[in-house]
Amino acid sequence: MRLDPCILVIFGATGDLTHRKLYPALYNLWLDKLLPERFAVVSIGRREKNDDEVRQDIVRSIQQFSRTAKPSGDRLDQFLAMFSYYQLDFNDTAGYGPLKEYLEEKDQIHGTLGNRVYFLAVAPEYFSPIAKELHDQGMAEQRGSWQRVVIEKPFGQNLPTAIQLNNDVRATFGEENIYRIDHYLGKEMAQNIMIIRFANTLFEPLWNNRYIDHIQLSLTETVGVEGRGPYYEQAGALRDMVQNHMLQLLSLIAMEPPVTLDTESIRDEKVKVLRSLKVKREDVVRGQYGRSESGEIRAYREEDRVSPESQVETFVALKATIDNFRWAGVPFYLRTGKRLPRKYSEIVIQFKKLPGVLYFKDNDLDPNILVIRVHPDEGVYLQFNAKQLGTSSLIVPVSMDFCHNCADGLNSPEAYERLLYDVMRGDSTLFTRWDEVEHSWRFVDQIAEWWQEQPEIPIYPSGSWGPKESDELPEKDGRRWLYFVRNEGTR
Ligand code: BG6
Repeated sequence: MRLDPCILVIFGATGDLTHRKLYPALYNLWLDKLLPERFAVVSIGRREKNDDEVRQDIVRSIQQFSRTAKPSGDRLDQFLAMFSYYQLDFNDTAGYGPLKEYLEEKDQIHGTLGNRVYFLAVAPEYFSPIAKELHDQGMAEQRGSWQRVVIEKPFGQNLPTAIQLNNDVRATFGEENIYRIDHYLGKEMAQNIMIIRFANTLFEPLWNNRYIDHIQLSLTETVGVEGRGPYYEQAGALRDMVQNHMLQLLSLIAMEPPVTLDTESIRDEKVKVLRSLKVKREDVVRGQYGRSESGEIRAYREEDRVSPESQVETFVALKATIDNFRWAGVPFYLRTGKRLPRKYSEIVIQFKKLPGVLYFKDNDLDPNILVIRVHPDEGVYLQFNAKQLGTSSLIVPVSMDFCHNCADGLNSPEAYERLLYDVMRGDSTLFTRWDEVEHSWRFVDQIAEWWQEQPEIPIYPSGSWGPKESDELPEKDGRRWLYFVRNEGTR
Protein backbone atom coordinates (compact mmCIF):
# COMPACT_ATOMS: atom_id res chain seq x y z
CA MET A 1 0.00 0.00 0.00
CA ARG A 2 1.31 3.41 -0.96
CA LEU A 3 1.26 5.75 2.03
CA ASP A 4 0.44 9.44 1.85
CA PRO A 5 3.41 11.75 2.32
CA CYS A 6 3.61 13.06 5.90
CA ILE A 7 5.71 14.45 8.72
CA LEU A 8 5.93 12.52 11.96
CA VAL A 9 6.28 15.03 14.79
CA ILE A 10 7.53 13.39 17.97
CA PHE A 11 6.94 15.36 21.16
CA GLY A 12 9.28 13.93 23.79
CA ALA A 13 12.15 13.09 21.50
CA THR A 14 14.71 12.77 24.25
CA GLY A 15 12.57 10.40 26.31
CA ASP A 16 12.83 6.72 26.96
CA LEU A 17 9.98 5.61 24.71
CA THR A 18 11.38 7.41 21.68
CA HIS A 19 14.82 6.02 22.32
CA ARG A 20 13.80 2.42 23.02
CA LYS A 21 10.85 1.99 20.71
CA LEU A 22 10.12 4.73 18.19
CA TYR A 23 13.53 5.23 16.56
CA PRO A 24 14.21 1.48 16.20
CA ALA A 25 10.67 0.96 14.86
CA LEU A 26 11.14 3.71 12.26
CA TYR A 27 14.44 2.20 11.24
CA ASN A 28 12.91 -1.23 10.68
CA LEU A 29 9.96 0.23 8.80
CA TRP A 30 12.44 2.04 6.60
CA LEU A 31 14.45 -1.14 5.99
CA ASP A 32 11.22 -2.91 5.04
CA LYS A 33 10.31 0.00 2.71
CA LEU A 34 7.15 0.68 4.68
CA LEU A 35 7.61 4.41 5.21
CA PRO A 36 6.01 6.90 2.84
CA GLU A 37 8.20 7.91 -0.09
CA ARG A 38 7.98 11.51 0.96
CA PHE A 39 8.50 11.54 4.69
CA ALA A 40 10.27 13.44 7.47
CA VAL A 41 10.54 13.17 11.23
CA VAL A 42 10.76 16.21 13.46
CA SER A 43 11.91 15.28 16.95
CA ILE A 44 10.87 17.81 19.56
CA GLY A 45 12.42 18.04 22.99
CA ARG A 46 13.13 20.54 25.71
CA ARG A 47 16.89 20.08 25.69
CA GLU A 48 19.19 22.09 23.49
CA LYS A 49 20.48 19.91 20.65
CA ASN A 50 21.28 20.25 16.99
CA ASP A 51 20.28 17.95 14.14
CA ASP A 52 23.60 16.12 14.22
CA GLU A 53 23.33 15.40 17.91
CA VAL A 54 19.86 14.01 17.53
CA ARG A 55 21.03 11.84 14.64
CA GLN A 56 23.77 10.44 16.87
CA ASP A 57 21.10 9.67 19.49
CA ILE A 58 19.15 7.82 16.82
CA VAL A 59 22.16 5.72 15.83
CA ARG A 60 22.74 4.80 19.48
CA SER A 61 19.14 3.86 19.94
CA ILE A 62 19.12 1.66 16.84
CA GLN A 63 22.37 0.01 17.88
CA GLN A 64 20.97 -0.77 21.27
CA PHE A 65 17.38 -1.70 20.53
CA SER A 66 16.80 -2.55 16.88
CA ARG A 67 15.77 -6.15 16.22
CA THR A 68 17.62 -6.19 12.89
CA ALA A 69 21.18 -5.78 11.64
CA LYS A 70 22.93 -2.70 12.91
CA PRO A 71 23.23 0.17 10.46
CA SER A 72 26.30 1.72 8.89
CA GLY A 73 27.59 3.68 5.92
CA ASP A 74 25.66 5.50 3.22
CA ARG A 75 22.45 3.68 3.83
CA LEU A 76 22.41 4.86 7.38
CA ASP A 77 23.03 8.44 6.23
CA GLN A 78 20.04 8.19 3.91
CA PHE A 79 17.86 7.14 6.82
CA LEU A 80 19.19 9.83 9.15
CA ALA A 81 18.60 12.55 6.56
CA MET A 82 14.87 12.31 7.28
CA PHE A 83 15.34 13.51 10.86
CA SER A 84 15.68 16.96 12.36
CA TYR A 85 15.40 18.38 15.86
CA TYR A 86 13.31 21.25 17.18
CA GLN A 87 13.73 22.60 20.70
CA LEU A 88 10.54 23.51 22.53
CA ASP A 89 9.35 23.78 26.11
CA PHE A 90 5.91 22.17 25.82
CA ASN A 91 4.38 24.76 28.16
CA ASP A 92 5.79 27.71 26.22
CA THR A 93 2.76 28.88 24.28
CA ALA A 94 4.86 31.35 22.29
CA GLY A 95 6.93 28.48 20.89
CA TYR A 96 4.16 26.87 18.84
CA GLY A 97 3.81 29.61 16.19
CA PRO A 98 7.45 29.22 15.15
CA LEU A 99 7.03 25.42 15.26
CA LYS A 100 4.16 25.71 12.81
CA GLU A 101 6.35 27.72 10.43
CA TYR A 102 9.18 25.25 10.85
CA LEU A 103 6.91 22.34 9.92
CA GLU A 104 5.60 24.25 6.90
CA GLU A 105 9.18 24.76 5.71
CA LYS A 106 9.77 21.03 6.12
CA ASP A 107 6.68 20.41 3.99
CA GLN A 108 8.29 22.46 1.23
CA ILE A 109 11.58 20.60 1.47
CA HIS A 110 10.16 17.07 1.69
CA GLY A 111 6.92 17.49 -0.30
CA THR A 112 4.85 16.22 2.62
CA LEU A 113 1.71 18.22 1.73
CA GLY A 114 0.85 19.33 5.28
CA ASN A 115 -0.06 15.82 6.51
CA ARG A 116 1.02 15.26 10.10
CA VAL A 117 1.22 12.58 12.75
CA TYR A 118 1.71 14.21 16.15
CA PHE A 119 3.08 11.56 18.50
CA LEU A 120 2.79 12.60 22.15
CA ALA A 121 5.54 10.55 23.81
CA VAL A 122 5.48 12.86 26.82
CA ALA A 123 4.40 12.77 30.46
CA PRO A 124 0.59 12.82 30.71
CA GLU A 125 0.45 16.35 32.14
CA TYR A 126 1.55 17.65 28.73
CA PHE A 127 -1.16 15.91 26.67
CA SER A 128 -3.77 18.61 27.21
CA PRO A 129 -1.50 21.69 26.89
CA ILE A 130 0.04 20.37 23.66
CA ALA A 131 -3.38 19.55 22.20
CA LYS A 132 -4.59 23.05 23.08
CA GLU A 133 -1.64 24.77 21.41
CA LEU A 134 -1.99 22.65 18.28
CA HIS A 135 -5.60 23.77 18.18
CA ASP A 136 -4.90 27.46 18.82
CA GLN A 137 -2.26 27.55 16.12
CA GLY A 138 -4.57 25.86 13.64
CA MET A 139 -2.09 23.00 13.40
CA ALA A 140 -4.77 20.32 13.66
CA GLU A 141 -7.13 21.62 10.99
CA GLN A 142 -7.97 19.00 8.42
CA ARG A 143 -8.03 21.37 5.44
CA GLY A 144 -6.89 19.50 2.38
CA SER A 145 -4.49 17.48 4.50
CA TRP A 146 -4.85 15.11 7.43
CA GLN A 147 -3.74 15.62 11.05
CA ARG A 148 -3.58 12.69 13.48
CA VAL A 149 -2.54 12.50 17.09
CA VAL A 150 -1.07 9.49 18.88
CA ILE A 151 -1.40 9.37 22.65
CA GLU A 152 0.57 7.08 24.88
CA LYS A 153 -0.78 5.65 28.08
CA PRO A 154 -1.67 6.40 30.80
CA PHE A 155 -4.89 7.83 29.41
CA GLY A 156 -5.94 9.45 32.71
CA GLN A 157 -5.59 8.29 36.29
CA ASN A 158 -9.20 7.20 36.71
CA LEU A 159 -12.48 7.78 34.90
CA PRO A 160 -12.94 11.50 35.81
CA THR A 161 -9.40 12.44 34.75
CA ALA A 162 -9.70 10.33 31.59
CA ILE A 163 -12.94 12.15 30.70
CA GLN A 164 -11.23 15.50 31.21
CA LEU A 165 -8.27 14.48 29.07
CA ASN A 166 -10.55 13.12 26.40
CA ASN A 167 -12.52 16.37 26.29
CA ASP A 168 -9.29 18.33 25.95
CA VAL A 169 -8.00 16.21 23.10
CA ARG A 170 -11.39 16.06 21.40
CA ALA A 171 -11.52 19.87 21.40
CA THR A 172 -8.64 19.65 18.90
CA PHE A 173 -8.97 16.32 17.09
CA GLY A 174 -12.00 14.28 16.01
CA GLU A 175 -12.28 10.76 17.43
CA GLU A 176 -11.29 9.32 14.03
CA ASN A 177 -7.96 11.14 14.22
CA ILE A 178 -7.09 10.12 17.79
CA TYR A 179 -4.89 7.03 18.09
CA ARG A 180 -4.73 5.85 21.71
CA ILE A 181 -1.86 3.41 21.88
CA ASP A 182 -1.96 0.10 23.63
CA HIS A 183 1.23 -1.56 22.46
CA TYR A 184 -0.10 -5.04 23.30
CA LEU A 185 -2.50 -4.72 20.37
CA GLY A 186 0.48 -4.33 18.05
CA LYS A 187 1.94 -7.68 19.12
CA GLU A 188 1.74 -10.43 16.54
CA MET A 189 -0.28 -12.86 18.63
CA ALA A 190 -2.74 -10.24 19.84
CA GLN A 191 -3.53 -9.65 16.17
CA ASN A 192 -3.80 -13.39 15.75
CA ILE A 193 -6.49 -13.93 18.41
CA MET A 194 -9.40 -13.08 16.13
CA ILE A 195 -7.96 -15.20 13.33
CA ILE A 196 -7.46 -18.22 15.57
CA ARG A 197 -11.01 -17.85 16.80
CA PHE A 198 -12.90 -16.93 13.66
CA ALA A 199 -10.92 -18.74 10.96
CA ASN A 200 -10.95 -22.22 12.50
CA THR A 201 -13.85 -24.65 12.50
CA LEU A 202 -12.01 -26.48 15.22
CA PHE A 203 -12.26 -23.63 17.72
CA GLU A 204 -15.08 -21.30 16.76
CA PRO A 205 -18.02 -23.58 17.66
CA LEU A 206 -16.43 -24.47 21.02
CA TRP A 207 -15.71 -20.91 22.10
CA ASN A 208 -18.38 -20.57 24.79
CA ASN A 209 -19.56 -21.70 28.22
CA ARG A 210 -20.75 -25.09 26.96
CA TYR A 211 -17.22 -26.23 26.21
CA ILE A 212 -14.82 -23.90 27.98
CA ASP A 213 -14.13 -24.48 31.67
CA HIS A 214 -12.18 -21.31 32.30
CA ILE A 215 -9.68 -18.90 30.77
CA GLN A 216 -6.43 -17.56 32.21
CA LEU A 217 -4.50 -14.55 31.16
CA SER A 218 -1.03 -14.00 32.62
CA LEU A 219 1.29 -11.10 31.81
CA THR A 220 4.20 -11.58 34.17
CA GLU A 221 7.56 -9.86 34.38
CA THR A 222 10.88 -10.46 36.09
CA VAL A 223 11.91 -6.81 36.12
CA GLY A 224 11.05 -4.33 38.84
CA VAL A 225 10.04 -0.73 38.18
CA GLU A 226 13.34 0.07 36.43
CA GLY A 227 13.80 3.66 37.49
CA ARG A 228 10.17 4.56 36.75
CA GLY A 229 9.36 5.02 40.44
CA PRO A 230 7.51 8.37 40.18
CA TYR A 231 5.27 7.10 37.36
CA TYR A 232 4.66 3.76 39.04
CA GLU A 233 3.79 5.34 42.38
CA GLN A 234 0.85 6.99 40.58
CA ALA A 235 -0.03 3.96 38.49
CA GLY A 236 0.56 0.59 40.15
CA ALA A 237 -0.06 -2.66 38.32
CA LEU A 238 -3.81 -2.10 38.14
CA ARG A 239 -3.53 1.07 36.06
CA ASP A 240 -0.26 0.12 34.38
CA MET A 241 -1.30 -3.29 33.04
CA VAL A 242 -4.89 -4.28 33.88
CA GLN A 243 -6.75 -1.17 32.72
CA ASN A 244 -5.20 -1.38 29.27
CA HIS A 245 -3.21 -4.43 28.10
CA MET A 246 -5.10 -7.08 30.04
CA LEU A 247 -8.59 -5.79 29.37
CA GLN A 248 -7.78 -5.30 25.71
CA LEU A 249 -6.60 -8.90 25.32
CA LEU A 250 -9.57 -10.11 27.31
CA SER A 251 -12.00 -8.27 25.06
CA LEU A 252 -10.43 -9.86 21.96
CA ILE A 253 -10.70 -13.32 23.49
CA ALA A 254 -14.30 -12.88 24.57
CA MET A 255 -15.91 -10.65 21.92
CA GLU A 256 -18.67 -11.80 19.58
CA PRO A 257 -17.81 -12.11 15.88
CA PRO A 258 -17.96 -8.60 14.42
CA VAL A 259 -20.41 -7.82 11.61
CA THR A 260 -17.47 -6.94 9.33
CA LEU A 261 -13.75 -6.59 9.81
CA ASP A 262 -13.86 -2.81 9.76
CA THR A 263 -12.48 -0.86 12.69
CA GLU A 264 -15.74 0.27 14.23
CA SER A 265 -17.44 -3.14 14.01
CA ILE A 266 -14.57 -4.74 15.89
CA ARG A 267 -14.47 -2.01 18.50
CA ASP A 268 -18.26 -2.25 18.98
CA GLU A 269 -17.89 -5.90 19.97
CA LYS A 270 -14.94 -5.25 22.27
CA VAL A 271 -16.87 -2.58 24.13
CA LYS A 272 -19.74 -4.98 24.77
CA VAL A 273 -17.35 -7.33 26.56
CA LEU A 274 -16.02 -4.52 28.74
CA ARG A 275 -19.55 -3.46 29.60
CA SER A 276 -20.48 -6.98 30.71
CA LEU A 277 -17.35 -7.55 32.78
CA LYS A 278 -17.93 -8.15 36.49
CA VAL A 279 -15.68 -8.75 39.47
CA LYS A 280 -16.36 -9.35 43.15
CA ARG A 281 -14.39 -7.71 45.89
CA GLU A 282 -13.25 -11.01 47.37
CA ASP A 283 -11.91 -12.11 43.98
CA VAL A 284 -9.19 -9.48 43.70
CA VAL A 285 -5.69 -9.93 45.12
CA ARG A 286 -2.87 -7.41 45.18
CA GLY A 287 0.69 -7.48 46.41
CA GLN A 288 3.94 -5.57 46.39
CA TYR A 289 7.38 -7.05 45.87
CA GLY A 290 9.67 -7.17 48.86
CA ARG A 291 13.32 -8.22 48.85
CA SER A 292 14.20 -11.53 47.28
CA GLU A 293 14.83 -14.41 49.66
CA SER A 294 18.58 -14.08 49.15
CA GLY A 295 18.32 -10.37 49.87
CA GLU A 296 20.05 -9.54 46.56
CA ILE A 297 17.08 -7.89 44.93
CA ARG A 298 15.78 -4.85 46.68
CA ALA A 299 12.19 -4.31 47.66
CA TYR A 300 9.84 -1.97 45.77
CA ARG A 301 9.93 0.40 48.74
CA GLU A 302 13.70 0.64 48.36
CA GLU A 303 13.56 1.62 44.69
CA ASP A 304 14.62 5.13 43.66
CA ARG A 305 11.99 7.81 44.16
CA VAL A 306 9.52 5.40 45.75
CA SER A 307 8.04 6.11 49.16
CA PRO A 308 9.44 3.79 51.88
CA GLU A 309 5.83 3.42 53.08
CA SER A 310 4.37 2.95 49.61
CA GLN A 311 1.15 0.92 49.41
CA VAL A 312 1.27 0.74 45.63
CA GLU A 313 0.63 -2.71 44.11
CA THR A 314 3.16 -4.36 41.82
CA PHE A 315 1.00 -7.48 41.47
CA VAL A 316 -2.68 -8.03 40.74
CA ALA A 317 -4.64 -11.23 40.31
CA LEU A 318 -8.37 -11.37 39.89
CA LYS A 319 -11.25 -13.52 38.80
CA ALA A 320 -13.75 -11.83 36.53
CA THR A 321 -16.88 -13.01 34.80
CA ILE A 322 -18.66 -11.80 31.69
CA ASP A 323 -22.38 -11.57 32.10
CA ASN A 324 -23.66 -12.58 28.70
CA PHE A 325 -25.07 -15.69 27.06
CA ARG A 326 -21.73 -16.85 25.69
CA TRP A 327 -19.74 -16.59 28.92
CA ALA A 328 -22.09 -16.88 31.88
CA GLY A 329 -20.45 -19.17 34.45
CA VAL A 330 -16.94 -19.14 32.91
CA PRO A 331 -14.31 -17.60 35.17
CA PHE A 332 -11.55 -15.48 33.66
CA TYR A 333 -8.46 -15.50 35.88
CA LEU A 334 -6.07 -12.63 35.26
CA ARG A 335 -2.68 -12.04 36.83
CA THR A 336 0.15 -9.64 36.27
CA GLY A 337 3.12 -8.65 38.36
CA LYS A 338 6.69 -7.50 38.53
CA ARG A 339 9.64 -9.42 40.01
CA LEU A 340 8.01 -12.79 39.31
CA PRO A 341 10.06 -15.85 38.28
CA ARG A 342 9.34 -15.62 34.50
CA LYS A 343 8.66 -13.01 31.87
CA TYR A 344 5.82 -14.35 29.78
CA SER A 345 2.44 -13.41 28.36
CA GLU A 346 0.01 -16.21 27.73
CA ILE A 347 -3.66 -16.90 27.31
CA VAL A 348 -4.76 -20.35 28.48
CA ILE A 349 -8.12 -21.72 27.42
CA GLN A 350 -9.03 -24.82 29.35
CA PHE A 351 -11.87 -26.88 27.92
CA LYS A 352 -14.37 -28.86 29.96
CA LYS A 353 -13.79 -32.52 30.63
CA LEU A 354 -15.91 -35.07 28.87
CA PRO A 355 -18.70 -36.85 30.76
CA GLY A 356 -17.58 -39.56 33.20
CA VAL A 357 -18.07 -42.53 30.85
CA LEU A 358 -15.77 -44.65 28.64
CA TYR A 359 -12.21 -43.43 29.12
CA PHE A 360 -13.22 -40.98 31.77
CA LYS A 361 -14.88 -43.60 33.91
CA ASP A 362 -11.86 -44.75 35.89
CA ASN A 363 -9.34 -42.11 34.92
CA ASP A 364 -8.99 -38.52 35.81
CA LEU A 365 -7.85 -37.43 32.37
CA ASP A 366 -6.29 -34.10 31.59
CA PRO A 367 -8.54 -31.56 29.92
CA ASN A 368 -7.90 -30.18 26.44
CA ILE A 369 -6.01 -26.94 26.65
CA LEU A 370 -5.34 -24.31 24.04
CA VAL A 371 -2.60 -21.80 24.79
CA ILE A 372 -2.06 -18.61 22.85
CA ARG A 373 1.51 -17.59 23.52
CA VAL A 374 2.10 -13.89 23.16
CA HIS A 375 5.61 -13.63 24.60
CA PRO A 376 8.49 -14.65 24.53
CA ASP A 377 7.59 -17.25 21.92
CA GLU A 378 4.66 -16.46 19.73
CA GLY A 379 2.43 -19.33 18.80
CA VAL A 380 -0.26 -21.79 19.71
CA TYR A 381 -0.06 -24.90 21.85
CA LEU A 382 -2.78 -27.52 21.96
CA GLN A 383 -2.97 -30.28 24.51
CA PHE A 384 -5.13 -33.37 23.94
CA ASN A 385 -5.30 -36.99 25.11
CA ALA A 386 -3.89 -40.01 23.30
CA LYS A 387 -2.80 -43.53 24.01
CA GLN A 388 0.66 -43.98 25.40
CA LEU A 389 3.10 -45.54 22.96
CA GLY A 390 3.50 -49.34 23.11
CA THR A 391 1.50 -52.03 24.79
CA SER A 392 0.30 -49.81 27.58
CA SER A 393 -3.32 -48.71 27.47
CA LEU A 394 -2.61 -45.63 29.49
CA ILE A 395 -4.02 -42.38 28.22
CA VAL A 396 -1.62 -39.46 28.38
CA PRO A 397 -1.77 -35.80 27.44
CA VAL A 398 0.16 -35.01 24.25
CA SER A 399 0.58 -31.70 22.49
CA MET A 400 0.89 -29.92 19.20
CA ASP A 401 3.01 -26.87 19.36
CA PHE A 402 3.15 -24.20 16.69
CA CYS A 403 5.72 -21.49 17.11
CA HIS A 404 5.32 -18.45 14.93
CA ASN A 405 8.72 -16.89 15.52
CA CYS A 406 10.96 -19.87 16.24
CA ALA A 407 12.22 -20.60 12.72
CA ASP A 408 15.75 -19.41 12.05
CA GLY A 409 15.97 -15.88 10.86
CA LEU A 410 12.34 -15.10 11.64
CA ASN A 411 12.09 -12.00 13.63
CA SER A 412 8.60 -10.64 14.31
CA PRO A 413 8.10 -6.94 13.85
CA GLU A 414 7.96 -5.01 17.08
CA ALA A 415 4.54 -3.77 18.16
CA TYR A 416 5.50 -0.15 17.51
CA GLU A 417 6.39 -0.89 13.90
CA ARG A 418 2.91 -2.13 13.18
CA LEU A 419 1.29 0.66 15.17
CA LEU A 420 3.27 3.49 13.55
CA TYR A 421 2.57 2.00 10.15
CA ASP A 422 -1.15 1.85 10.91
CA VAL A 423 -1.28 5.49 12.04
CA MET A 424 0.37 6.57 8.79
CA ARG A 425 -2.10 4.61 6.72
CA GLY A 426 -5.04 5.82 8.82
CA ASP A 427 -6.12 2.46 10.26
CA SER A 428 -7.12 2.73 13.91
CA THR A 429 -8.29 -0.87 14.43
CA LEU A 430 -5.38 -1.64 16.76
CA PHE A 431 -5.97 1.47 18.87
CA THR A 432 -8.52 1.99 21.58
CA ARG A 433 -11.70 3.95 21.06
CA TRP A 434 -12.87 6.29 23.79
CA ASP A 435 -15.71 4.08 25.04
CA GLU A 436 -13.30 1.15 25.47
CA VAL A 437 -11.13 3.37 27.65
CA GLU A 438 -14.16 4.59 29.55
CA HIS A 439 -15.48 1.13 30.41
CA SER A 440 -12.01 -0.12 31.33
CA TRP A 441 -11.72 2.69 33.83
CA ARG A 442 -15.13 1.91 35.30
CA PHE A 443 -13.98 -1.66 35.93
CA VAL A 444 -10.63 -0.65 37.40
CA ASP A 445 -11.89 2.29 39.47
CA GLN A 446 -14.19 0.09 41.55
CA ILE A 447 -11.20 -2.08 42.50
CA ALA A 448 -9.06 0.96 43.36
CA GLU A 449 -11.87 2.16 45.63
CA TRP A 450 -12.05 -1.17 47.48
CA TRP A 451 -8.32 -0.99 48.10
CA GLN A 452 -8.54 2.46 49.59
CA GLU A 453 -10.52 0.93 52.42
CA GLN A 454 -7.78 -1.65 53.11
CA PRO A 455 -4.54 0.30 52.97
CA GLU A 456 -2.16 -2.47 54.18
CA ILE A 457 -0.78 -4.23 51.12
CA PRO A 458 0.54 -7.84 51.28
CA ILE A 459 4.26 -8.16 50.45
CA TYR A 460 5.62 -11.06 48.37
CA PRO A 461 9.29 -11.96 48.00
CA SER A 462 10.86 -10.91 44.69
CA GLY A 463 11.28 -14.03 42.56
CA SER A 464 8.10 -15.70 43.85
CA TRP A 465 4.73 -16.02 42.09
CA GLY A 466 3.15 -13.27 44.16
CA PRO A 467 1.22 -13.35 47.43
CA LYS A 468 -0.23 -16.70 48.55
CA GLU A 469 -3.74 -15.31 48.09
CA SER A 470 -3.04 -15.35 44.37
CA ASP A 471 -2.62 -19.14 44.34
CA GLU A 472 -5.70 -19.47 46.50
CA LEU A 473 -7.82 -17.59 43.99
CA PRO A 474 -8.11 -20.45 41.43
CA GLU A 475 -7.58 -23.11 44.14
CA LYS A 476 -10.85 -22.06 45.81
CA ASP A 477 -12.51 -23.21 42.57
CA GLY A 478 -10.47 -26.42 42.30
CA ARG A 479 -8.13 -24.95 39.65
CA ARG A 480 -4.57 -23.67 39.54
CA TRP A 481 -2.48 -21.18 37.63
CA LEU A 482 -0.90 -22.74 34.55
CA TYR A 483 1.94 -21.81 32.32
CA PHE A 484 3.24 -23.41 29.17
CA VAL A 485 6.40 -21.49 28.39
CA ARG A 486 8.17 -23.38 25.62
CA ASN A 487 11.01 -25.72 26.60
CA GLU A 488 10.28 -25.19 30.25
CA GLY A 489 7.42 -27.60 30.71
CA THR A 490 4.20 -26.66 32.36
CA ARG A 491 3.35 -25.47 35.78
C1 BG6 B 1 4.07 -1.18 29.74
C2 BG6 B 1 4.13 -0.97 31.22
O1 BG6 B 1 2.89 -0.67 29.20
O2 BG6 B 1 4.16 -2.57 29.47
C3 BG6 B 1 5.38 -1.57 31.81
O3 BG6 B 1 4.07 0.42 31.50
C4 BG6 B 1 5.52 -3.01 31.40
O4 BG6 B 1 5.39 -1.44 33.23
C5 BG6 B 1 5.35 -3.18 29.90
O5 BG6 B 1 6.81 -3.44 31.80
C6 BG6 B 1 5.29 -4.64 29.52
O6 BG6 B 1 5.29 -4.74 28.13
P1 BG6 B 1 5.95 -5.97 27.38
O7 BG6 B 1 5.70 -5.69 25.94
O8 BG6 B 1 7.41 -5.96 27.74
O9 BG6 B 1 5.27 -7.20 27.92
